[in-house]
Amino acid sequence: MTKFIPISEPSITSKEVEYVTDAVRSGWISSLGKYVDAFEEQFAAFCGTKYAVAVSNGTTALHLALVAYGIGPGDEVIVPDFTFIATANAVKHAGADVKLVDIEENTLCIDPNQLRSAITARTKAVIPVHIYGHPADMTKIMKIAKERNLIVIEDAAEAHGAEVNGVKVGSIGNCGTFSFYGNKIITTGEGGMITSNDDVFIQKVRHLRDHAMSKKKRYWHDDIGYNYRITNLQAALGLAQVERIKELLTHKKRIFTTYKQYLSGDRRCRLNYEAPWAKNVYWMVSLEIDTYDEDARDQLILRLKKENIDSRPYFYPISDMSMYGKEDTPVTHRVYKRGINLPSYSALQNDTIEYICKKVIKSI
Ligand SMILES: Cc1ncc(COP(=O)(O)O)c(C=O)c1O
Repeated sequence: MTKFIPISEPSITSKEVEYVTDAVRSGWISSLGKYVDAFEEQFAAFCGTKYAVAVSNGTTALHLALVAYGIGPGDEVIVPDFTFIATANAVKHAGADVKLVDIEENTLCIDPNQLRSAITARTKAVIPVHIYGHPADMTKIMKIAKERNLIVIEDAAEAHGAEVNGVKVGSIGNCGTFSFYGNKIITTGEGGMITSNDDVFIQKVRHLRDHAMSKKKRYWHDDIGYNYRITNLQAALGLAQVERIKELLTHKKRIFTTYKQYLSGDRRCRLNYEAPWAKNVYWMVSLEIDTYDEDARDQLILRLKKENIDSRPYFYPISDMSMYGKEDTPVTHRVYKRGINLPSYSALQNDTIEYICKKVIKSI
């Protein structure tokens, strides 16, 4: 019996250990210290944005972005029905209303046509989510946003390095938000980032991140801010990771290509899509079996677990959860039950992927 194969595992090398050790030894263990600035600079350079502001996680990044754009009670924000719950929750935390919109069947990202028809007089913003590493159709989304005067916050928590026509996500909308949770493309344990080219917005983000404290007068606050800071320790880890991001993305591509090699011969299996205009970074390899319902999917997960292979179901539709209103989103409701994510971490060897694929084919 093979040893347990997890769905995800961080890639920590001597570089990460060296930087974090240096940060600990320096005594700068809270949010002041050289690593925060260096991490922000390197991440902005990677995304091709003027600025990047590090925060405590991907959820606070979304919340802070909404608040800094003045979105709150009375406003409506459009969110895809197929995403991790944090995208919708951040809108609620800001006091605004969530409008859930259906996705495209191939990219699994928000459907621009559905987005257009969901806009009302109260709509202030849209949060396209680049799901499982595939970017949303930002060309169409930005056109609609321009016509209808909407703020676009890209939720790129799962898609560091993904591209739309050669342009990196996080640099296309008014701003982008990222997560560095332990299972993400790069990690800081917990952490997040806001990227943007908008000077005024970034100033506001920096101000609100640190209790809205005046720069000129210590302990004077001109707004109700937050403690959404990242620590120097986390940023040390993040700097090492961002310096290795090309290597980590190469592994994601290798892993997807290897799964494809062993699974594409089985007509029941469908793997991640990549639109002609997109660069998918394959954060998680996704397997869909068209005939599956929830029960069949759960049985597959259990059978794989018995073979010591971890997997996870697709996200449930947000509109099925009691805190959010019902919504007629047929694509989301068709897709969610037929998909699982398979182990996708950098250290995963090709022969282990071959083993997983054999067990998948046997277990479907
Ligand atoms: C699409 C999406 N948005 C937001 C988040 C929130 O990020 P965090 O867990 O760092 O708060 C996550 C993931 O965790 C996510 O997958």
